[in-house]
Amino acid sequence: MLVLGIESSCDETGVALYDTERGLLAHAVHSQIAMHEEYGGVVPELASRDHIRRLIPLLERVQAEAGAARRDIDAIAYTAGPGLAGALLVGSGFAESLAFALGVPALPVHHLEGHMLSPLLSADPPRFPFVALLVSGGHTQLMRVDGVGAYALLGESLDDAAGEAFDKTAKLLGLGYPGGPAVSALAAQGTPGRCKLPRPMLHSGDFDFSFSGLKTAVLTQVRDRQPSAAERADLAAEFQEAVTEVLATKALAAVRAQCLDTLVVAGGVGANRRLRQRLDAGAAKAGIRVHYPELDLCTDNGAMIAFCGARRLAEGQRPAGNGAFAVRPRWPLAELLQPGA
Ligand code: KG4
Ligand code: ZN
Repeated sequence: MLVLGIESSCDETGVALYDTERGLLAHAVHSQIAMHEEYGGVVPELASRDHIRRLIPLLERVQAEAGAARRDIDAIAYTAGPGLAGALLVGSGFAESLAFALGVPALPVHHLEGHMLSPLLSADPPRFPFVALLVSGGHTQLMRVDGVGAYALLGESLDDAAGEAFDKTAKLLGLGYPGGPAVSALAAQGTPGRCKLPRPMLHSGDFDFSFSGLKTAVLTQVRDRQPSAAERADLAAEFQEAVTEVLATKALAAVRAQCLDTLVVAGGVGANRRLRQRLDAGAAKAGIRVHYPELDLCTDNGAMIAFCGARRLAEGQRPAGNGAFAVRPRWPLAELLQPGA
């Protein structure tokens, strides 16, 4: 079965073709970063307009790469939420219309479920059950995953997401958008520990997180000390240490608490090199295997949506099939959780 995946929840347009027998045939992403950069963040209206411009050229590109005709497509999966309402509507309108024209099913997919299952697309995929650390711009969650659709929430951020903390800290340090890669590049020039930042909830005894205090601590240091360029680099380094220490410690503790031996990391912050170093070092000591999505599948893409849709169809989920569609800008992943899973 050939599944077309469409992602348009934020500032990346992603299109992919996934074949249930042959694997990922082609995927293409257009990033809008350059367009939003001058505004210091994503401008929703501009994002929607750009998704409209990009979808058809991207579809043609992946079709050419995969050697697939439109009539070869058996199903279309699209991100229905969470995300920006207008941006989501572009992808869902496109997917539902194309599905209607081709006479194939269209399946709405939860963006975070897409991220969470994306490591399964790698050459050496993890086996169920595992613990997933979901770290994106909008979410920080630890989940127990027993299979497709069998998720149990172990803990989550009580306020800012990890990626959001990176983005806000980048702004405070005068860096551009997106903040994660910018903070991490500046951190490489600094020394952690020179200015001390807290490790929020490191010893809370649960699997929840809190990052908004960390951002406030950075704000206080920036306001009180007016740091030099070198001091800003030290702050970036210490901030990265604080976030990655809490994430890595709690993620590995969650795997042990579940008596499992596999951790899967997904979402944009999963691209952070320091986080990976810490997880790998801690996991090696504890006999835990850590799986990451391929680097180009860490941030938003259509491949994870196509894959998630294919797995959902294989599990028997059927779309409504009435051509009506609704996006869910706020769609709690908790709604997908299985009670008692
Ligand atoms: O998963 P994603 O692409 O989009 C959402 O679904 O939110 O994640 C984007 C987030 C942003 O907050 C970005 O700053 C962060 O991931 N990010 C990083 C890195 N690359 C992206 N954070 C830390 N280090 C990175 N290398
Ligand atoms: Zn995402």
